[in-house]
Amino acid sequence: MKLVQKTKISAAALALLSLSALSTGFLEVTPAFAKDTQQRPAVLNASAVAVADKYAADAAEQIFKEGGNAVDAAVAIAFSLAVTYPEAGNIGGGGFMTLYVNGKPYFLDYRERAPLAATRTMYLDDKGNVIPGKSLFGYDAVGVPGTVEGMWEAQKRFGKLPWKKVLAPAIAYARDGFVVDEQLAKRRDDAAKDFAGKTNFDEYFGNLKEGVTFKQPDLANVLTRIANQGAKDFYDGKTADLIAASMKGHGLITKRDLQEYKAVWRQPVEAKWNGYEIITAPPPSSGGVGLVQLLKMKAMLAPQFKDVPLNSPQYIHLIAEIEKRVFADRAQYLGDPDFYKVPVAQLTDDAYLAKRVAEVDPDKPSDTKSVQPGLGTSMPEKAETTHFSVVDKWGNAVSNTYTINGYFGSGVVVPGAGIVLNDEMDDFASKPGVPNMFGVVGSDANAIAPKKRPLSSMTPTILTKDGKVALVIGTPGGSRIFTSVFQVINNNYDFNMPLKEAVAAMRFHHQLLPPNTIFWEPYQPIDGELAKQVEAKGYVLKGQDFNGDIQAIRINGDTPDAVSDPRGRGVSRLIQ
Ligand code: DON
Repeated sequence: MKLVQKTKISAAALALLSLSALSTGFLEVTPAFAKDTQQRPAVLNASAVAVADKYAADAAEQIFKEGGNAVDAAVAIAFSLAVTYPEAGNIGGGGFMTLYVNGKPYFLDYRERAPLAATRTMYLDDKGNVIPGKSLFGYDAVGVPGTVEGMWEAQKRFGKLPWKKVLAPAIAYARDGFVVDEQLAKRRDDAAKDFAGKTNFDEYFGNLKEGVTFKQPDLANVLTRIANQGAKDFYDGKTADLIAASMKGHGLITKRDLQEYKAVWRQPVEAKWNGYEIITAPPPSSGGVGLVQLLKMKAMLAPQFKDVPLNSPQYIHLIAEIEKRVFADRAQYLGDPDFYKVPVAQLTDDAYLAKRVAEVDPDKPSDTKSVQPGLGTSMPEKAETTHFSVVDKWGNAVSNTYTINGYFGSGVVVPGAGIVLNDEMDDFASKPGVPNMFGVVGSDANAIAPKKRPLSSMTPTILTKDGKVALVIGTPGGSRIFTSVFQVINNNYDFNMPLKEAVAAMRFHHQLLPPNTIFWEPYQPIDGELAKQVEAKGYVLKGQDFNGDIQAIRINGDTPDAVSDPRGRGVSRLIQ
C-alpha cells in the first residue's frame, strides 16, 4: 500500500531532506502546503455541505464545529455514508476527490483496481461471449477497494483534526444505529432480488427495513480498527485478512492485492470556460474530458443555440449531437492512463473541438455510424455512486464522488466485517463493443488487465474564478454523470437559473448508442407534446430506472448557496 505522489520536489528541498534523513536516520516528507488552513482568515461567512443524507450532514457539522476544514469534513462524510447510505457510500469501493486547497487544485484517484489474477477475457465464456451478470454480481465482480486509502491520504495531506476524530461519527452510526428511510429500504428490496441465491447480502441487510434503527456491529469494529491503526488495518491488518478470507475459493482478491493497492495524486483536467477555471476529473475517469468537451462545444455552437429555449426539442437535438461526438471519443480513447496513453490535451483542444462542432447537423440527428472517434484510429489500439460537495469558510473545497457501482455493489458483504464490496469490474469493457450496465462500450483502452483501473464517468468538479471557488458539483448516474453535471452548469450559468432550480430542472441523456436514443429520468419524464416533437425529429425516447443526485454549492460573493437534488434524500446546510 503505497501512494504515488506526483508532486515535484525541488533540488534544494531534496538536499535539505537528505540532510535531515542523514541526521535522523529516516526520511519523512512533510509537504509544505499541508495543515496551514487554520492560520488563514475566513473568506466566507459560513462553511457548507451538500451531501446524500442527513446523517452525513450532521457528521460534517460536528467536524466543522470541532475546528475541522473541508477535507476533515469530507472524510467524515465519506465514512458516515459508508454506514448510513450503504447502497452507494462505501469503504468497499473507490472514487475520486477533486480539491481546491489554499488556492491550488489537486486530484486524488482512489479508484478500485483489477486484481492481480484478473485477465482480459475473465467475463467471457469459451465461445467468447460475455457471461451475463458475472461482472455485476458476486465475488467475480469485485475490484480492489480504494476508499480507505483515499481518505487516509487526503486527510493526512490536508486535514487539520486528528484522524480518529473524523472517524467518530461513522463509528457511532454503525454501533448505535441510524433510522432507515423509505428510499433506502426500497433500494435494498430491489437489490436483494438481484442478489438472491448469488451472495450473502441478506445475512447483513435482510433487516434493513423502513423505520428500524439499523446497527452494524461488525462494521463498527472495522471502523474502530481503522480509526486506531489508519488505512493499514484495511490493507495489511485484520480487515485485510477478513477480505482475503472471504474471497478464498470464491473470488480473485488476495491479501497481496490489498497490500499493493495505491491511491494516486494526479493532475486534474483544467480548462477555461466562460470566465471560469474548470477543475475536474482526469482519466481513469472519462467524466472530466467529457464535461470539458460538452461545455466548450456548446459555447462554440452559440449561434445555433441562440433563442433556443432550454429543454425544447431543438435544444435536446443540439445537445444530443454534441453528446454523440463525446461518446464516440470516450469509447475509443478513454481508459486508465497508467496503462494507455489517453490524449487528454488533444481531446479538449479548442481547434479539435471546433472541427467536431462543424460536423453537427443543426436540423436532424447525424447518422450514428458516421460519428467516429475524432482523432482517427491511428491511436494505439493495444496499448451506485454518491457525490458530496464541501466548502469551508477558509475558501477550501472538496468535490468527491465515490461508488460501489450498482446499488449495494456486487451484493457480497465481507463476513465478520460487514463491508459491502463493489462491482466496479463491470466498468471495464469485458469485450470490445459489448455494452456494460450503463450501455456504454469500450475498446482496448478499457480492456481488463491486472492492477488496471476501470474507466469511470465520475466527474467531481470545482469551478473557480480569480482564484476563488465559485461552484462545487457532482452526481452519481454512471455514464449520465457528466452529461448531468454539464446540464446543471449550463442551466445555472447560461440560463441564469438559481442553483436550486438548475438542479431540479429536467435532465436528459444521449450516448451515441443505442442510435438516436434520448434517455429521460423517472423524476421528470419526457412525455406529452414534448415527447411527440422530439420523436418527430427522429429520436427514440427511453425512460431509465434511476435518477441522478446532484450535490452542489455555489459561492455568491462570500456566501455559499448549497443545494441537494430533490431526486434524492440529500441535505444541504450552511454551518457557521
Ligand atoms: O465509475 C462510474 O462511472 C460508475 N461505476 C458510477 C456508478 C454510478 O454512478 C451508479 N449510480 N447510479
